[in-house]
Amino acid sequence: MTSTVRRWSIILAGSAACARGAAHPQPFGTTNRGEAVSAYTLKNAHGIELQVLDYGGIIVSLRVPDRAGRLDDVVLGFDSLADYERGSPYFGALIGRYGNRIARGRFTLDGRTYTLATNNGLNHLHGGVRGFDKMVWAAAPFEHGDSVGLVLNYTSRDGEEGYPGTLRATVTYTLTNANQLIFDYHATTDRATPVNLTQHSYFNLAGDGKGDILGHVVTLTADRFTPVDSTLIPTGEIRSVAGTPFDFRTPTAIGARIDQADDQLRYGRGYDHNFVLNKGGTGGDMPLAARVYEPTSGRVMDISTTEPGLQFYSGNFLDGTLRGKHGVVYRHRYGFAMETQHFPDSPNKPAFPSTILRPGEEYRSRTIYRFGVQP
Ligand code: GLA
Repeated sequence: MTSTVRRWSIILAGSAACARGAAHPQPFGTTNRGEAVSAYTLKNAHGIELQVLDYGGIIVSLRVPDRAGRLDDVVLGFDSLADYERGSPYFGALIGRYGNRIARGRFTLDGRTYTLATNNGLNHLHGGVRGFDKMVWAAAPFEHGDSVGLVLNYTSRDGEEGYPGTLRATVTYTLTNANQLIFDYHATTDRATPVNLTQHSYFNLAGDGKGDILGHVVTLTADRFTPVDSTLIPTGEIRSVAGTPFDFRTPTAIGARIDQADDQLRYGRGYDHNFVLNKGGTGGDMPLAARVYEPTSGRVMDISTTEPGLQFYSGNFLDGTLRGKHGVVYRHRYGFAMETQHFPDSPNKPAFPSTILRPGEEYRSRTIYRFGVQP
């Protein structure tokens, strides 16, 4: 982008004809329940381009420059809504009410036991059978001086997937001229309920479909993690990463230790664990939680968050059966996710930071992905 005149534009997907600032979503199909789904394309001054659906708040594509300035799509996804509905492993989606697992889909709150939908063996995962990733959100695009974005609203009814209370959720995606993609989460409820919202984009910073992610170099500012049982429920222990394959305090390739003989790696079939961020959950602060560097493209992604935890998932369940955008086949570990969150199964783990939202309180959480390059 050489023009100094050009600032922000919200462009029509597949067409540059749309006037700047005018929100013209493009049709992206109809759900099997008959709901119309739209795609919004947001672009910043450096050419970073994001395509988002009102269905599940799904990020379908995200084009960012490499060290030579060449744009590539760095997230996994599908070409059609039918593919997303047929069985997506949460590609690009907003997750709620609860990111990650709740053991046996049960928890007790204020003396009452609640039973949630179970959709991952005996456990509840990512909000249940029909979580926030499968809902059509009300979407409103916006444009400010130095950013462009989309406000997504969804009201989850009392009893949905077994959860108590009507939950009103607002998630704002903002793409700034500083190459940040900001997620702001807000929610209120009329009855006490667990809430743990996150974003489940899968990345391959070399480019979508361009091989596995084992060469990506990861840094995590986490001295500790939460080990799991064989069904990926935290045992409750908070364990030091020192001397384990979970020590990413200095930059280390994802593949460097992933196949070591280690019970935790065996349970996760690789990395699928919640890291306890050293400076996590410190309110308004936005400490760096993670950095991912991809050496061939030079792309870097920095993640900062107000959340206390981060689920690092190395795409272990991808097995070559899914065909993504432009027909690419998603083989084992072709993408990774960095889900900022509260810890899994917190409603059953009193020692973990609380995930309970009560009437009159506001749920607020912010995560920033910043894209850059390194030599
Ligand atoms: C999270 C979970 C994983 C897996 C992926 C989606 O990262 O922890 O076990 O469910 O989502 O496949």
